[in-house]
Amino acid sequence: MARINYDDRTAAAFKAVREVPRDGLWEWREAVRRHLRPSQGMTLVDIGAGTGAFTAAFSDWFDLRVLAVEPSAAMRAQIRRAPAIQVFEGDASALPLPDESADAAWLSLVIHHIPDLALAANEIRRVLRPGAPVLIRQGFPDRYEPLGTLKLDSIELVRWFPETARSIETFPSIKDTRKAFAAAGFHQDALEQVRETYPTSLADFLGQVDTFRQADTTMRNLTEGEFLRGKESLRDAVRQDENTANPEIRCNWLDLLVLR
Ligand SMILES: C[S@@+](CC[C@H](N)C(=O)[O-])C[C@H]1O[C@@H](n2cnc3c(N)ncnc32)[C@H](O)[C@@H]1O
Repeated sequence: MARINYDDRTAAAFKAVREVPRDGLWEWREAVRRHLRPSQGMTLVDIGAGTGAFTAAFSDWFDLRVLAVEPSAAMRAQIRRAPAIQVFEGDASALPLPDESADAAWLSLVIHHIPDLALAANEIRRVLRPGAPVLIRQGFPDRYEPLGTLKLDSIELVRWFPETARSIETFPSIKDTRKAFAAAGFHQDALEQVRETYPTSLADFLGQVDTFRQADTTMRNLTEGEFLRGKESLRDAVRQDENTANPEIRCNWLDLLVLR
C-alpha cells in the first residue's frame, strides 16, 4: 500500500510539477550509463515507474527496451507509449514478468512505498538475469546528519520545508535496504550522490508549490502551519533572487545505490 493514493488528481499533479525536466537529468544519465553499461537489446524494468519520466528517458538515452511496472492506473495512464516501452500493472512484490527476463532494475523514489522490501528484493532477484544491477534513486535517512555525513538540505524541499525531514526519517535506511537485498543475494556495488538541476526559477517553484504538495509524500505530511511557514521562507528567497544579478541554479541531490 503506497503512502499516498496515486489517484487521477495526484497523477496529474505529479506529471505537471514533479517530473524533473529532461535537461536537468544529465548527471543522472551519465551516472546510470556508468553502472548500467547499456547495450543494444538490453531490457530494463522500471519498478514503480509512476508517470514514466525515467521510462521515457532510458528509452531515449540508451535505446533500451523498458518494461514499466506501476500499480496505480492513474499513474500508468500518464506513461508515454512507444514500441520500445511496455507498461504493466503490478508492484515490486509481484512483478508480472518471467524469471531472468531483465538486464537491470530501476527504482526511483519507490522503496519507501514498498511494504515488504525483503519480499520485493526476492522478486527482483527472480526477474533479473544473474549479475544484472538494481539501481535505486532515493534519499536514505541514515545517510544524513546526525547519523551520516550528508547535509539534509541537499534535498531542495527540506531547505524550504524543514519538517519534510520527518517523513524522510521513516523511509528505509541504507542499512535496512542493503540487508533486505543481501538476503536475496545482492551486494552493494556503488553508492554515490547525484545531482539534478531545474531550469525553472524559485519564483516558478513558488507558483507550483500547492500542486507539488498534492503529489509529494513528504509535503502531504506537513501541517498547514508548517506548509505556510515554508511557503513564506520560499517567498523571502524569491524576493532575494529578484535583487540578485545571477540567481543560483536550483538543484537537488539524491543517492544512487547500485546492487548486483
Ligand atoms: C514518488 S512516485 C515515483 C515515480 C517514478 N519512479 C519517478 O521517479 O518519477 C512513487 C511510485 O511508486 C508506486 N508504488 C507504490 N507502491 C508500490 C509498490 N509496492 N511497488 C511498486 N511501485 C509502487 C506509486 O504508485 C508511484 O507511482
